[in-house]
This record gives sequence, C-alpha cells and structure tokens, in this order.
Amino acid sequence: MRSLTFASILVPLLSFIFYRNFLRMPSLSTVRAFNAAFSPSYTPVAIFVGGTSGIGQGIAEAFARHTKGNAHIVIVGRNRAAAESIISTFPKPTVPGVTHEFVECDISLMKNVRHVATDLRARIPRINFLVLTPGVMTMNGRNETEEGIDRKLAVHYYGRWRFIKDLLPAVEEAHNAGEDAKVLSVLSAGYGGGKIDLEDLGLKKSFSLPNAAAAAGTYNDIMINDFAARFPGLSFIHSHPGFVASNLMKTSNTPSLRFMNNILMPILRPFAYSVETSGEHQLYGLLKAGPGAVRTTDNGDDIGLSKRYFGSPEAMARLWKHTEEATSV
Ligand SMILES: *[C@@H]1O[C@H](CO)[C@@H](O)[C@H](O)[C@H]1NC(C)=O
Repeated sequence: MRSLTFASILVPLLSFIFYRNFLRMPSLSTVRAFNAAFSPSYTPVAIFVGGTSGIGQGIAEAFARHTKGNAHIVIVGRNRAAAESIISTFPKPTVPGVTHEFVECDISLMKNVRHVATDLRARIPRINFLVLTPGVMTMNGRNETEEGIDRKLAVHYYGRWRFIKDLLPAVEEAHNAGEDAKVLSVLSAGYGGGKIDLEDLGLKKSFSLPNAAAAAGTYNDIMINDFAARFPGLSFIHSHPGFVASNLMKTSNTPSLRFMNNILMPILRPFAYSVETSGEHQLYGLLKAGPGAVRTTDNGDDIGLSKRYFGSPEAMARLWKHTEEATSV
C-alpha cells in the first residue's frame, strides 16, 4: 500500500518534470542555434557572479563557446581552483587584449560585494551582461552574517542587488554605446515567489524556510521590476532554471539534503537538465530578452508579470529603501 502511494506520487511527478524539461518548446537545438548566431559587432564583456559551479558555470561556458572565447569574461565566486579549471576549457581568444579571469568574492558579505564591485568598476568601463546565480541549499534556520543578514537571503538577494546597483553605471555605458546591456538573476521566477511581509523585510522576526523561499523569489521579482523602471532601455531578467543536476544538494550543509542527493539524484538525473543544457537555455533567455523587466521560465520564455507575481508599487518603494540600507556597509 505504501509503495503504491509512493508510486502514485513519484510517477506523475517524474512525468511532470520530464514534460517540463524536455518536451516544451523551444528545443535544445533551436536554442543552441539561436545562441550560436550571437555575433555582436563589439567584443562583449560579461560578468558571472556565482559562475564557479552549477547553472552559472553552464551559462559562462555556453557564452564562452558561442563567442569563441572572444569576450572579456569575469567569473566571480569563492572557489579559485574551480574557476581556473572552468576557464581553462574556454576557447582561447584571438582578439588582442581580451582576457578570461577570476575574481574572488564571498557574496554573503556586503562589504565583499562592495569591494569587488568597486574594483571591477575601476578597471572595466562597460559591462554588456551581468549574470547572477550564486546559490546555497540548506534546511537550517536563520543564520546571520556579522552584518545581520541571513546568509541564504544574502546570497539569493541582497548581494545580487548590491552587485547590480554598484555595477549598473558600467551596464548603462554599454547601453549608451548601443550595445547589449542586460542583467540576469537566476532564481525562481514564476515558481518560488510568495506573499511578503512589508513590516518584516529581511525576515528578522518571521524567518521560516517557506517564508525565506517566498521572500527570495518575490524580492528578485521586485528587484528586476524596480531596476527596469529606473533604468529604461536596459534588460533585467529574473529566470527560473527548472530542475538542474547541479551540486547544490551535494554541497549542502544539511545532512538530510546530502542524503537525499545520494538516494534521489541517481533516479532523478535523467529528468533533470544537465548544467550544460541549462546553460544553453538560460543564455538563450538572456540573449533574447528585450528591454525592461522580463521573467523567464527554464526554457527562456517570457512569462511576464501575470503568473505568481506578488509585488506592488508600495512593496517596490519599501524594499528598495530597506535593501539600500541593509547593503550600505
Ligand atoms: C551558519 O553559517 C556558517 C557559515 O557558513 C556555518 O559555519 C555555520 O555552521 C552555520 N550555522 C548553522 C546553525 O547553520
């Protein structure tokens, strides 16, 4: 009986994941062809915050492949060895002066984000693509950094917001030069968001795992909307990556998640996007996006603001003020 119940849950679930990941349009070959056709008249500059593993790695690798290495690529993250090994697989640039580099940053601390952003601003005058993917998976409760921000929210929202804010002048430079000027935050558009409490932004009083997940998703939605309203002409995208076989669970600090990874991943892997495939779909969503606020699914389709959007003009104003204060260290 129990196994029947188990099957009755697992089979529809797997079918659903399979349907979502593989049968929907556009197909991987369409997406790949679209990405391969990207051939800007300028040498693009792309920054991948969280590009040392998982989806960020997948997007950075796809970008390097399709530009044939002729792009200034900066991977920002904690793991230098991983970044260097990823960069070593990039096609070597043939355009003089173009580099692929790693910059170390633990994004959970805003002082690090500000320091790295200042360094990047000082030596990189224009940025065409700013991609933010850093993630942690944990089932532990609130865990504050020395700056008073929950670590998970810091990585999924506050650090991303601060990177965007501080690097935006360089993205505007690209826009003013008539080039691509786009920001992509990969988290949970259309799926993870939920109602947020405007009286407790940052969840100091009402932290729970569901509240934290809802807040991170909705804060990201509001973030792209707000930046898009303030900086017309630029693209701000919040995407949902779908189910990706990354090492998020494997490297979790929650034992039960690591355990589930060992048991479930072998079963689920065939139903998941590989890091490479996810990278192609996410890059497609990025390259295809027009100006303004864009929310995309795992396949890069724009779902607009109709589905599971919990923002409002008031939420926008209050979250901006709260975030500016919380990240101004
Ligand atoms: C809080 O985060 C730190 C740094 O990641 C970690 O070492 C510590 O174990 C975490 N504490 C809890 C209770 O999760």
